[in-house]
Amino acid sequence: MRQSSLVVVANRLPIDDSVAPDGACEWRRSPGGLVSALHPLLRQTPATWVGWAGGTGPAPSLADVDGVRMHTVPLTAEDVRDHYEGFANATLWPLYHDAVEQPVYHRRWWEAYQRVNRRFAEAAADAAEPGAVVWVQDYHLQLVPGLLRELRPDLRIGFFLHVPFPPPELFMQLPRRAELLRGMLGADLIGFQRAQAAHNFAQLVAHVLDVPADDRRIALDGREVRIGAFPVSIDTTEMAALATRPDVVARAARLRRDLGDPTHVILSVDRMDYTKGIEQRLKAYSELIADGHVKVRDTVLVQVAVPSRERVAQYQVLRDRVEREVGRINGEFGRVGEPAIHYLTQPFDRAELAALYRMADIMAVTPLRDGMNLVAKEYVAARVDDTGALLLSEFAGSAAELPEAFLVNPHDLDGLKLTLMDALQADPADLTGRMRAMRAHLSRHDIHAWARSYLAALDSSGSLLTRVTTPG
Ligand code: ADP
Ligand code: G6P
Repeated sequence: MRQSSLVVVANRLPIDDSVAPDGACEWRRSPGGLVSALHPLLRQTPATWVGWAGGTGPAPSLADVDGVRMHTVPLTAEDVRDHYEGFANATLWPLYHDAVEQPVYHRRWWEAYQRVNRRFAEAAADAAEPGAVVWVQDYHLQLVPGLLRELRPDLRIGFFLHVPFPPPELFMQLPRRAELLRGMLGADLIGFQRAQAAHNFAQLVAHVLDVPADDRRIALDGREVRIGAFPVSIDTTEMAALATRPDVVARAARLRRDLGDPTHVILSVDRMDYTKGIEQRLKAYSELIADGHVKVRDTVLVQVAVPSRERVAQYQVLRDRVEREVGRINGEFGRVGEPAIHYLTQPFDRAELAALYRMADIMAVTPLRDGMNLVAKEYVAARVDDTGALLLSEFAGSAAELPEAFLVNPHDLDGLKLTLMDALQADPADLTGRMRAMRAHLSRHDIHAWARSYLAALDSSGSLLTRVTTPG
Protein backbone atom coordinates (compact mmCIF):
# COMPACT_ATOMS: atom_id res chain seq x y z
CA MET A 1 0.00 0.00 0.00
CA ARG A 2 1.34 3.45 -0.97
CA GLN A 3 1.57 5.78 2.00
CA SER A 4 1.40 9.59 2.09
CA SER A 5 2.81 12.36 4.25
CA LEU A 6 -0.62 14.07 4.29
CA VAL A 7 -3.81 12.12 4.80
CA VAL A 8 -7.22 13.76 4.83
CA VAL A 9 -9.96 11.71 6.46
CA ALA A 10 -13.52 12.77 5.72
CA ASN A 11 -16.77 10.87 5.63
CA ARG A 12 -17.25 11.74 1.98
CA LEU A 13 -14.75 11.51 -0.87
CA PRO A 14 -14.53 14.63 -3.03
CA ILE A 15 -16.21 12.84 -5.90
CA ASP A 16 -19.61 11.29 -6.24
CA ASP A 17 -20.88 8.74 -8.69
CA SER A 18 -23.73 9.89 -10.82
CA VAL A 19 -25.35 8.94 -14.04
CA ALA A 20 -24.24 10.82 -17.16
CA PRO A 21 -26.83 11.89 -19.75
CA ASP A 22 -25.86 8.87 -21.90
CA GLY A 23 -26.60 6.52 -18.98
CA ALA A 24 -22.94 5.79 -18.13
CA CYS A 25 -21.64 6.10 -14.59
CA GLU A 26 -19.45 9.18 -14.13
CA TRP A 27 -17.66 10.69 -11.16
CA ARG A 28 -17.96 14.35 -10.34
CA ARG A 29 -17.19 16.70 -7.46
CA SER A 30 -19.72 16.28 -4.65
CA PRO A 31 -21.69 19.36 -3.56
CA GLY A 32 -21.12 20.53 0.00
CA GLY A 33 -18.85 22.91 1.86
CA LEU A 34 -16.26 20.42 3.08
CA VAL A 35 -15.37 19.18 -0.38
CA SER A 36 -15.41 22.72 -1.83
CA ALA A 37 -12.91 23.80 0.82
CA LEU A 38 -10.43 20.94 0.61
CA HIS A 39 -10.52 19.96 -3.04
CA PRO A 40 -8.52 22.93 -4.35
CA LEU A 41 -5.88 22.48 -1.67
CA LEU A 42 -5.00 18.90 -2.18
CA ARG A 43 -4.30 19.25 -5.86
CA GLN A 44 -1.00 20.75 -4.76
CA THR A 45 0.46 17.97 -2.64
CA PRO A 46 0.82 14.18 -2.92
CA ALA A 47 -1.90 13.33 -0.45
CA THR A 48 -4.38 10.57 0.25
CA TRP A 49 -8.07 11.20 0.88
CA VAL A 50 -9.72 8.52 3.00
CA GLY A 51 -13.50 8.56 2.61
CA TRP A 52 -16.72 6.88 1.62
CA ALA A 53 -17.67 6.76 -2.07
CA GLY A 54 -21.38 7.13 -1.44
CA GLY A 55 -22.74 3.62 -2.10
CA THR A 56 -23.05 0.42 -0.11
CA GLY A 57 -21.13 -2.84 -0.35
CA PRO A 58 -17.49 -3.34 -1.34
CA ALA A 59 -15.47 -0.15 -1.78
CA PRO A 60 -14.88 0.69 -5.47
CA SER A 61 -11.26 1.16 -6.40
CA LEU A 62 -10.88 4.66 -7.78
CA ALA A 63 -8.18 6.30 -9.83
CA ASP A 64 -6.30 9.30 -8.41
CA VAL A 65 -8.14 12.62 -8.78
CA ASP A 66 -5.84 15.55 -9.60
CA GLY A 67 -2.91 13.61 -8.11
CA VAL A 68 -4.76 12.81 -4.87
CA ARG A 69 -5.12 9.13 -3.99
CA MET A 70 -8.67 8.06 -3.27
CA HIS A 71 -8.75 5.52 -0.44
CA THR A 72 -12.33 4.31 -0.22
CA VAL A 73 -13.86 3.05 3.01
CA PRO A 74 -16.73 0.61 2.46
CA LEU A 75 -20.03 1.08 4.29
CA THR A 76 -22.78 -1.53 4.46
CA ALA A 77 -26.43 -0.57 4.10
CA GLU A 78 -26.70 -0.85 7.88
CA ASP A 79 -23.69 1.45 8.40
CA VAL A 80 -25.21 4.05 6.08
CA ARG A 81 -28.54 3.85 7.85
CA ASP A 82 -27.21 3.95 11.41
CA HIS A 83 -23.98 5.93 11.11
CA TYR A 84 -24.47 8.40 8.23
CA GLU A 85 -28.24 8.86 8.20
CA GLY A 86 -28.64 8.07 11.89
CA PHE A 87 -26.06 9.28 14.38
CA ALA A 88 -24.33 11.77 12.06
CA ASN A 89 -27.34 13.32 10.36
CA ALA A 90 -30.31 12.74 12.66
CA THR A 91 -28.50 13.10 16.02
CA LEU A 92 -25.43 15.31 15.67
CA TRP A 93 -26.38 17.52 12.71
CA PRO A 94 -29.64 18.87 14.21
CA LEU A 95 -28.13 19.10 17.71
CA TYR A 96 -25.14 21.10 16.45
CA HIS A 97 -27.42 23.44 14.47
CA ASP A 98 -29.31 24.84 17.46
CA ALA A 99 -31.68 21.83 17.43
CA VAL A 100 -33.76 23.59 14.75
CA GLU A 101 -35.07 20.06 14.18
CA GLN A 102 -35.41 17.63 17.08
CA PRO A 103 -32.25 15.47 17.46
CA VAL A 104 -33.04 11.74 17.65
CA TYR A 105 -31.16 9.39 19.98
CA HIS A 106 -30.88 5.64 19.38
CA ARG A 107 -28.41 3.31 21.09
CA ARG A 108 -28.02 1.28 17.89
CA TRP A 109 -26.83 4.39 16.05
CA TRP A 110 -24.11 4.96 18.61
CA GLU A 111 -22.86 1.39 18.08
CA ALA A 112 -22.62 2.07 14.36
CA TYR A 113 -20.89 5.41 14.91
CA GLN A 114 -18.17 3.67 16.95
CA ARG A 115 -17.80 0.85 14.42
CA VAL A 116 -17.53 3.15 11.41
CA ASN A 117 -15.16 5.56 13.16
CA ARG A 118 -12.90 2.59 13.93
CA ARG A 119 -12.92 1.56 10.27
CA PHE A 120 -11.93 5.08 9.18
CA ALA A 121 -9.18 5.22 11.82
CA GLU A 122 -7.74 1.90 10.60
CA ALA A 123 -7.83 3.06 6.99
CA ALA A 124 -6.06 6.30 7.93
CA ALA A 125 -3.43 4.37 9.90
CA ASP A 126 -2.75 2.23 6.80
CA ALA A 127 -2.48 5.23 4.48
CA ALA A 128 -0.15 7.39 6.61
CA GLU A 129 3.63 7.17 6.28
CA PRO A 130 5.70 7.37 9.51
CA GLY A 131 5.34 10.80 11.13
CA ALA A 132 2.66 11.89 8.63
CA VAL A 133 0.08 14.59 9.21
CA VAL A 134 -3.46 13.22 9.33
CA TRP A 135 -6.25 15.76 9.12
CA VAL A 136 -9.63 14.43 10.24
CA GLN A 137 -12.74 16.33 9.15
CA ASP A 138 -16.13 16.96 10.61
CA TYR A 139 -18.83 15.61 12.89
CA HIS A 140 -19.12 12.15 11.31
CA LEU A 141 -15.67 11.21 12.60
CA GLN A 142 -15.26 12.72 16.05
CA LEU A 143 -13.90 9.47 17.53
CA VAL A 144 -11.22 9.04 14.85
CA PRO A 145 -8.52 11.26 16.45
CA GLY A 146 -8.59 9.23 19.67
CA LEU A 147 -8.69 5.84 17.92
CA LEU A 148 -5.93 6.85 15.52
CA ARG A 149 -3.66 8.04 18.32
CA GLU A 150 -3.94 4.58 19.92
CA LEU A 151 -3.03 2.90 16.62
CA ARG A 152 -0.33 5.35 15.51
CA PRO A 153 1.18 7.54 18.23
CA ASP A 154 3.84 8.73 15.73
CA LEU A 155 1.33 10.80 13.71
CA ARG A 156 0.51 14.50 13.92
CA ILE A 157 -3.27 14.52 14.14
CA GLY A 158 -5.53 17.47 13.33
CA PHE A 159 -9.30 17.66 13.61
CA PHE A 160 -11.48 20.32 12.00
CA LEU A 161 -15.19 20.75 12.62
CA HIS A 162 -16.95 22.36 9.64
CA VAL A 163 -20.26 22.77 11.45
CA PRO A 164 -21.04 24.83 14.57
CA PHE A 165 -20.10 23.38 17.96
CA PRO A 166 -23.13 23.91 20.17
CA PRO A 167 -23.44 25.64 23.51
CA PRO A 168 -23.08 23.35 26.57
CA GLU A 169 -26.80 23.29 27.36
CA LEU A 170 -27.48 21.61 24.00
CA PHE A 171 -24.43 19.33 23.87
CA MET A 172 -25.27 18.02 27.35
CA GLN A 173 -28.30 16.23 25.83
CA LEU A 174 -26.00 13.69 24.16
CA PRO A 175 -26.07 10.37 25.99
CA ARG A 176 -22.42 9.61 25.05
CA ARG A 177 -21.07 13.16 25.44
CA ALA A 178 -17.91 12.24 27.36
CA GLU A 179 -16.79 9.71 24.72
CA LEU A 180 -17.31 12.23 21.92
CA LEU A 181 -15.22 14.87 23.68
CA ARG A 182 -12.49 12.33 24.44
CA GLY A 183 -12.45 11.22 20.82
CA MET A 184 -11.79 14.75 19.57
CA LEU A 185 -9.11 15.23 22.22
CA GLY A 186 -7.01 12.56 20.49
CA ALA A 187 -5.99 15.38 18.11
CA ASP A 188 -3.03 17.73 18.59
CA LEU A 189 -5.06 20.63 17.24
CA ILE A 190 -8.84 21.00 17.11
CA GLY A 191 -10.05 23.68 14.71
CA PHE A 192 -13.47 25.32 14.75
CA GLN A 193 -15.08 27.92 12.49
CA ARG A 194 -15.69 30.44 15.26
CA ALA A 195 -14.01 31.41 18.55
CA GLN A 196 -17.38 30.87 20.28
CA ALA A 197 -17.26 27.19 19.29
CA ALA A 198 -13.78 26.75 20.78
CA HIS A 199 -15.08 28.42 23.95
CA ASN A 200 -18.09 26.05 24.09
CA PHE A 201 -15.77 23.07 23.67
CA ALA A 202 -13.38 24.20 26.41
CA GLN A 203 -16.26 24.75 28.82
CA LEU A 204 -17.62 21.27 28.12
CA VAL A 205 -14.25 19.59 28.52
CA ALA A 206 -13.78 21.28 31.89
CA HIS A 207 -17.30 20.42 33.01
CA VAL A 208 -17.81 16.90 31.63
CA LEU A 209 -14.26 15.54 31.88
CA ASP A 210 -13.09 17.65 34.79
CA VAL A 211 -9.94 18.59 32.88
CA PRO A 212 -8.42 22.10 33.06
CA ALA A 213 -9.20 23.87 29.76
CA ASP A 214 -9.10 27.39 28.39
CA ASP A 215 -10.08 28.63 24.92
CA ARG A 216 -6.60 27.85 23.52
CA ARG A 217 -5.14 24.84 25.37
CA ILE A 218 -6.20 21.69 27.15
CA ALA A 219 -3.74 19.59 29.17
CA LEU A 220 -4.65 15.91 29.06
CA ASP A 221 -2.76 12.64 29.72
CA GLY A 222 0.59 14.45 29.67
CA ARG A 223 -0.14 16.01 26.25
CA GLU A 224 -1.24 19.44 25.19
CA VAL A 225 -4.24 19.74 22.87
CA ARG A 226 -4.58 23.14 21.21
CA ILE A 227 -7.92 24.54 20.11
CA GLY A 228 -8.81 27.61 18.08
CA ALA A 229 -10.88 29.28 15.37
CA PHE A 230 -9.87 28.87 11.72
CA PRO A 231 -12.72 30.18 9.53
CA VAL A 232 -12.76 28.12 6.36
CA SER A 233 -12.87 29.81 2.97
CA ILE A 234 -12.92 29.24 -0.78
CA ASP A 235 -10.52 29.38 -3.70
CA THR A 236 -11.26 33.05 -4.35
CA THR A 237 -8.90 33.35 -7.33
CA GLU A 238 -10.35 30.27 -9.01
CA MET A 239 -13.93 31.53 -8.64
CA ALA A 240 -13.00 35.01 -9.89
CA ALA A 241 -11.18 33.49 -12.88
CA LEU A 242 -14.18 31.30 -13.70
CA ALA A 243 -16.53 34.27 -13.46
CA THR A 244 -14.35 36.21 -15.92
CA ARG A 245 -14.14 33.45 -18.54
CA PRO A 246 -15.84 34.61 -21.76
CA ASP A 247 -18.01 31.49 -22.00
CA VAL A 248 -19.20 31.99 -18.41
CA VAL A 249 -19.96 35.68 -19.02
CA ALA A 250 -21.89 34.72 -22.16
CA ARG A 251 -23.72 31.99 -20.27
CA ALA A 252 -24.72 34.47 -17.53
CA ALA A 253 -26.14 36.84 -20.17
CA ARG A 254 -27.98 33.94 -21.79
CA LEU A 255 -29.48 32.84 -18.48
CA ARG A 256 -30.72 36.35 -17.87
CA ARG A 257 -32.31 36.50 -21.31
CA ASP A 258 -33.95 33.14 -20.70
CA LEU A 259 -35.45 34.59 -17.53
CA GLY A 260 -37.09 37.31 -19.65
CA ASP A 261 -34.56 40.08 -18.89
CA PRO A 262 -36.11 41.06 -15.57
CA THR A 263 -34.95 44.17 -13.69
CA HIS A 264 -33.84 42.07 -10.73
CA VAL A 265 -32.75 38.47 -10.37
CA ILE A 266 -32.58 37.05 -6.86
CA LEU A 267 -30.64 33.79 -6.49
CA SER A 268 -30.39 31.21 -3.73
CA VAL A 269 -28.19 28.09 -3.89
CA ASP A 270 -28.47 25.55 -1.10
CA ARG A 271 -28.30 21.91 -0.29
CA MET A 272 -31.91 21.01 0.54
CA ASP A 273 -31.43 21.28 4.29
CA TYR A 274 -33.68 22.54 7.09
CA THR A 275 -30.78 24.62 8.44
CA LYS A 276 -30.74 26.80 5.30
CA GLY A 277 -33.90 28.82 5.99
CA ILE A 278 -35.42 28.05 2.56
CA GLU A 279 -38.98 28.13 3.87
CA GLN A 280 -38.50 31.48 5.63
CA ARG A 281 -37.09 32.95 2.42
CA LEU A 282 -39.98 31.66 0.30
CA LYS A 283 -42.48 33.04 2.77
CA ALA A 284 -40.87 36.48 2.77
CA TYR A 285 -40.76 36.49 -1.03
CA SER A 286 -44.36 35.43 -1.47
CA GLU A 287 -45.55 38.05 1.04
CA LEU A 288 -43.63 40.74 -0.86
CA ILE A 289 -45.42 39.70 -4.07
CA ALA A 290 -48.79 39.53 -2.30
CA ASP A 291 -48.21 42.99 -0.73
CA GLY A 292 -47.44 44.40 -4.19
CA HIS A 293 -43.85 45.37 -3.29
CA VAL A 294 -42.42 42.93 -5.81
CA LYS A 295 -43.81 42.47 -9.33
CA VAL A 296 -43.30 39.05 -10.86
CA ARG A 297 -42.50 40.48 -14.27
CA ASP A 298 -39.72 42.74 -12.90
CA THR A 299 -38.21 40.41 -10.34
CA VAL A 300 -37.56 36.69 -10.44
CA LEU A 301 -36.27 34.32 -7.81
CA VAL A 302 -34.05 31.44 -8.90
CA GLN A 303 -33.91 28.82 -6.15
CA VAL A 304 -31.38 26.03 -6.59
CA ALA A 305 -31.89 23.35 -3.93
CA VAL A 306 -29.90 20.19 -4.55
CA PRO A 307 -31.44 17.22 -2.70
CA SER A 308 -29.40 15.97 0.23
CA ARG A 309 -29.60 13.06 2.73
CA GLU A 310 -32.76 11.99 1.01
CA ARG A 311 -33.56 8.99 3.20
CA VAL A 312 -33.53 10.97 6.44
CA ALA A 313 -37.11 11.72 7.50
CA GLN A 314 -36.67 15.43 8.27
CA TYR A 315 -35.14 15.99 4.82
CA GLN A 316 -38.05 14.27 3.09
CA VAL A 317 -40.52 16.39 5.02
CA LEU A 318 -38.60 19.55 4.15
CA ARG A 319 -38.43 18.75 0.45
CA ASP A 320 -42.17 18.08 0.33
CA ARG A 321 -42.91 21.34 2.10
CA VAL A 322 -40.57 23.41 -0.08
CA GLU A 323 -41.95 21.91 -3.29
CA ARG A 324 -45.53 22.44 -2.18
CA GLU A 325 -44.76 26.08 -1.34
CA VAL A 326 -42.95 26.71 -4.64
CA GLY A 327 -45.95 25.19 -6.44
CA ARG A 328 -48.37 27.33 -4.44
CA ILE A 329 -46.43 30.55 -5.11
CA ASN A 330 -46.09 29.84 -8.81
CA GLY A 331 -49.73 28.80 -9.05
CA GLU A 332 -50.90 31.90 -7.28
CA PHE A 333 -48.59 34.58 -8.69
CA GLY A 334 -47.04 33.22 -11.89
CA ARG A 335 -48.32 33.58 -15.43
CA VAL A 336 -47.82 31.44 -18.50
CA GLY A 337 -44.11 31.71 -19.32
CA GLU A 338 -43.53 33.84 -16.20
CA PRO A 339 -43.14 31.79 -13.03
CA ALA A 340 -42.45 33.72 -9.82
CA ILE A 341 -39.81 31.17 -8.81
CA HIS A 342 -37.48 29.17 -11.02
CA TYR A 343 -36.83 26.05 -8.99
CA LEU A 344 -33.92 23.73 -9.84
CA THR A 345 -32.75 20.64 -7.98
CA GLN A 346 -29.85 19.66 -10.22
CA PRO A 347 -26.18 19.58 -9.27
CA PHE A 348 -24.20 22.01 -11.44
CA ASP A 349 -20.56 22.16 -12.41
CA ARG A 350 -18.43 25.05 -11.18
CA ALA A 351 -18.73 27.03 -14.43
CA GLU A 352 -22.53 26.92 -14.35
CA LEU A 353 -22.52 27.98 -10.69
CA ALA A 354 -20.21 30.88 -11.58
CA ALA A 355 -22.59 31.90 -14.39
CA LEU A 356 -25.53 31.83 -11.97
CA TYR A 357 -23.61 33.99 -9.48
CA ARG A 358 -22.67 36.46 -12.22
CA MET A 359 -26.24 36.65 -13.42
CA ALA A 360 -27.79 37.42 -10.02
CA ASP A 361 -28.27 40.97 -8.68
CA ILE A 362 -29.05 39.68 -5.22
CA MET A 363 -27.86 36.52 -3.53
CA ALA A 364 -30.16 35.50 -0.66
CA VAL A 365 -28.44 33.32 1.94
CA THR A 366 -30.68 32.90 4.97
CA PRO A 367 -29.65 29.91 7.13
CA LEU A 368 -31.07 29.53 10.62
CA ARG A 369 -27.61 28.31 11.63
CA ASP A 370 -24.57 27.50 9.46
CA GLY A 371 -20.96 26.70 10.40
CA MET A 372 -19.66 28.97 7.62
CA ASN A 373 -21.67 29.04 4.35
CA LEU A 374 -19.36 28.99 1.39
CA VAL A 375 -22.07 29.88 -1.13
CA ALA A 376 -22.07 33.43 0.28
CA LYS A 377 -18.31 33.64 -0.24
CA GLU A 378 -18.52 32.16 -3.74
CA TYR A 379 -21.05 34.81 -4.77
CA VAL A 380 -18.80 37.62 -3.54
CA ALA A 381 -15.76 36.12 -5.28
CA ALA A 382 -17.70 35.87 -8.56
CA ARG A 383 -18.76 39.57 -8.52
CA VAL A 384 -15.58 40.68 -10.26
CA ASP A 385 -17.12 44.01 -11.30
CA ASP A 386 -18.04 44.89 -7.69
CA THR A 387 -21.77 44.85 -8.37
CA GLY A 388 -24.52 42.86 -6.68
CA ALA A 389 -25.92 42.57 -3.17
CA LEU A 390 -25.46 39.80 -0.63
CA LEU A 391 -28.35 39.23 1.76
CA LEU A 392 -26.86 37.15 4.58
CA SER A 393 -28.18 35.60 7.76
CA GLU A 394 -26.46 36.74 10.91
CA PHE A 395 -26.49 33.06 11.96
CA ALA A 396 -24.06 32.01 9.21
CA GLY A 397 -20.40 31.81 10.27
CA SER A 398 -19.52 33.94 7.23
CA ALA A 399 -21.54 36.90 8.62
CA ALA A 400 -18.70 37.63 11.06
CA GLU A 401 -16.34 38.09 8.12
CA LEU A 402 -18.71 39.90 5.76
CA PRO A 403 -20.31 42.70 7.80
CA GLU A 404 -20.88 44.73 4.61
CA ALA A 405 -23.56 42.24 3.55
CA PHE A 406 -27.23 43.06 4.14
CA LEU A 407 -27.44 41.15 7.41
CA VAL A 408 -30.77 39.61 8.45
CA ASN A 409 -32.35 37.54 11.18
CA PRO A 410 -34.22 34.92 9.11
CA HIS A 411 -36.67 34.26 11.96
CA ASP A 412 -37.86 37.87 11.71
CA LEU A 413 -40.11 37.75 8.67
CA ASP A 414 -40.79 41.48 8.56
CA GLY A 415 -37.08 42.21 8.97
CA LEU A 416 -36.30 39.77 6.18
CA LYS A 417 -38.82 41.47 3.85
CA LEU A 418 -37.54 44.96 4.69
CA THR A 419 -33.90 44.00 4.19
CA LEU A 420 -34.68 42.29 0.89
CA MET A 421 -36.41 45.49 -0.26
CA ASP A 422 -33.38 47.53 0.93
CA ALA A 423 -31.14 45.34 -1.17
CA LEU A 424 -33.46 45.58 -4.19
CA GLN A 425 -33.58 49.38 -3.97
CA ALA A 426 -30.00 50.07 -2.89
CA ASP A 427 -27.94 52.79 -4.51
CA PRO A 428 -25.43 51.19 -6.92
CA ALA A 429 -22.58 53.22 -5.37
CA ASP A 430 -23.45 51.80 -1.95
CA LEU A 431 -23.47 48.28 -3.37
CA THR A 432 -20.09 48.80 -5.02
CA GLY A 433 -18.58 50.00 -1.74
CA ARG A 434 -19.91 46.98 0.12
CA MET A 435 -18.89 44.45 -2.53
CA ARG A 436 -15.41 45.92 -2.85
CA ALA A 437 -14.84 45.61 0.90
CA MET A 438 -16.07 42.01 0.95
CA ARG A 439 -13.96 41.08 -2.05
CA ALA A 440 -10.88 42.64 -0.46
CA HIS A 441 -11.48 40.53 2.65
CA LEU A 442 -11.84 37.31 0.64
CA SER A 443 -8.75 37.99 -1.43
CA ARG A 444 -6.70 37.89 1.79
CA HIS A 445 -8.70 35.22 3.60
CA ASP A 446 -8.97 32.53 0.96
CA ILE A 447 -8.69 28.77 1.21
CA HIS A 448 -4.90 28.89 1.00
CA ALA A 449 -4.69 31.31 3.93
CA TRP A 450 -6.99 28.98 5.89
CA ALA A 451 -4.84 25.92 5.21
CA ARG A 452 -1.67 27.89 5.92
CA SER A 453 -2.86 29.05 9.31
CA TYR A 454 -4.25 25.65 10.32
CA LEU A 455 -1.28 23.60 9.12
CA ALA A 456 1.23 26.07 10.56
CA ALA A 457 -0.42 25.57 13.93
CA LEU A 458 -0.52 21.78 13.50
CA ASP A 459 2.79 20.99 11.87
CA SER A 460 5.61 22.56 13.83
CA SER A 461 8.32 21.53 11.31
CA GLY A 462 6.57 23.53 8.58
CA SER A 463 7.68 21.21 5.76
CA LEU A 464 4.19 20.10 4.88
CA LEU A 465 2.94 23.64 4.95
CA THR A 466 5.33 24.71 2.20
CA ARG A 467 4.13 21.94 -0.09
CA VAL A 468 0.41 22.39 0.50
CA THR A 469 0.25 26.14 0.14
CA THR A 470 2.62 26.80 -2.75
CA PRO A 471 0.50 26.81 -5.91
CA GLY A 472 1.72 24.07 -8.24
P1 ADP B 1 -23.01 23.12 3.12
O1 ADP B 1 -21.61 22.83 3.48
O2 ADP B 1 -23.95 23.06 4.28
O3 ADP B 1 -23.52 22.34 1.96
P2 ADP B 1 -21.92 25.58 2.00
O4 ADP B 1 -22.61 26.79 1.48
O5 ADP B 1 -20.80 25.86 2.94
O6 ADP B 1 -23.05 24.66 2.64
O7 ADP B 1 -21.30 24.75 0.81
C1 ADP B 1 -22.08 24.28 -0.25
C2 ADP B 1 -21.14 23.96 -1.42
O8 ADP B 1 -21.85 23.11 -2.31
C3 ADP B 1 -20.73 25.19 -2.17
O9 ADP B 1 -19.37 25.09 -2.55
C4 ADP B 1 -21.64 25.18 -3.39
O10 ADP B 1 -21.06 25.74 -4.55
C5 ADP B 1 -21.87 23.70 -3.60
N1 ADP B 1 -23.20 23.50 -4.19
C6 ADP B 1 -24.39 23.90 -3.70
N2 ADP B 1 -25.39 23.60 -4.54
C7 ADP B 1 -24.83 23.00 -5.59
C8 ADP B 1 -25.34 22.46 -6.81
N3 ADP B 1 -26.64 22.49 -7.12
N4 ADP B 1 -24.45 21.91 -7.65
C9 ADP B 1 -23.14 21.87 -7.35
N5 ADP B 1 -22.60 22.37 -6.23
C10 ADP B 1 -23.43 22.93 -5.35
C1 G6P C 1 -21.71 19.93 5.13
C2 G6P C 1 -20.92 19.04 6.05
C3 G6P C 1 -20.02 18.12 5.24
C4 G6P C 1 -20.85 17.36 4.22
C5 G6P C 1 -21.65 18.32 3.35
C6 G6P C 1 -22.56 17.61 2.36
O1 G6P C 1 -20.80 20.73 4.46
O2 G6P C 1 -20.16 19.84 6.95
O3 G6P C 1 -19.33 17.22 6.08
O4 G6P C 1 -20.03 16.56 3.41
O5 G6P C 1 -22.45 19.14 4.20
O6 G6P C 1 -23.39 16.70 3.02
P1 G6P C 1 -23.37 15.13 2.69
O7 G6P C 1 -24.26 14.52 3.73
O8 G6P C 1 -23.89 15.02 1.31
O9 G6P C 1 -21.95 14.66 2.79
